[in-house]
Amino acid sequence: MNAAELTERLDAYPRLPLAEYPTPLEPLPRLSRELGREVYIKRDDDLGPGLGGNKTRKLEYLLAEAKQRRARKVVTYGGLQSNHARITAAAACRLGLEPHLFYFEHRPARAAGNLLLNRLTGARMHFIPFGGGGDGSMTLETTNRLVRLVALALVGRHYFIPVGGHSWRGCLGYVRAALEIDAQARGMGIEDAWIVTAAGTGGTLAGLLAGLTLLGSRLRPLGIDVGKLWKGFPVSLARLTGEICARLGEPRAFAPGDIPLIEGVYVGERYGAPSPACLDALQRLARLEGVLLDPVYTGKAFAGLLDLAARGQLGTDEPIIFLHTGGLPALFAFEERLLEGQVSR
Ligand SMILES: Cc1ncc(COP(=O)(O)O)c(C=O)c1O
Repeated sequence: MNAAELTERLDAYPRLPLAEYPTPLEPLPRLSRELGREVYIKRDDDLGPGLGGNKTRKLEYLLAEAKQRRARKVVTYGGLQSNHARITAAAACRLGLEPHLFYFEHRPARAAGNLLLNRLTGARMHFIPFGGGGDGSMTLETTNRLVRLVALALVGRHYFIPVGGHSWRGCLGYVRAALEIDAQARGMGIEDAWIVTAAGTGGTLAGLLAGLTLLGSRLRPLGIDVGKLWKGFPVSLARLTGEICARLGEPRAFAPGDIPLIEGVYVGERYGAPSPACLDALQRLARLEGVLLDPVYTGKAFAGLLDLAARGQLGTDEPIIFLHTGGLPALFAFEERLLEGQVSR
């Protein structure tokens, strides 16, 4: 399928643009010199609203459906430093919707990082210190079903957004991103590049994989798992990627082994706990290029990129595009960890 056809099929779905596109695709010259190959960064951290990030692209499709259904309230959920919840709240405010955010944890004594931004947008935050999945014991789909029931009981009628905006509709945002990156890369003479991204719910990866496959692109996506969050993760992503293609009128079957995901290796202790390699990677990119990463998602994904490249697992000289998915507000929830000597002076 060519780019015009894919764009036309995407345009069949309602979308409310929330940011300016395309986001920049920038070279990282000093890092490229150190690694001996071209490295680029795709700045999806530059997307609004509410300090933005990758979830903006998914929310453009999801909130368009919420408006179409004349919803008044939107509900979503995530971990305490969920960027998705924070961006949902900001985008909902912009569209005149009432945001409700669920956290399956104790209400923290201090609202830091993303939680502080939620306070500013006036989002209703519901803290329920049990359940909520995300510990690898439940599938993502089961977790969504349970939270949806809890939200219905507590909030009443609402538009429900799965964790991370993870649905075929939300992932259309990353099919659109695949088109955008493919066009930018070709315009810059970048061929056969890897696109490395963090995988939390994996929707960004699934959308990219679906989009690049449908386009017949030579760009190769690779997801770095940041949390060991879900039971049967590759199975679920294979199903989702197939469904995205089908919704775009081009059914394709994906097996779990077709999902380019490095599972577990770069998670460290657990989701949300920055590993030493993550903090080193974060510091290395900040000092070399002045680019800031976050300690929960992009820091771990970038640590994965550096390690895989060093071990020759990303070929030898193909360019690498690092997809910066945002998340910087979380830096301010990890002040102590960042100051305690894990990060050198
Ligand atoms: C900053 C950041 N990067 C990456 C991700 C992962 O995206 P996905 O859930 O689509 O895998 C998330 C959210 O989960 C995020 O907030």
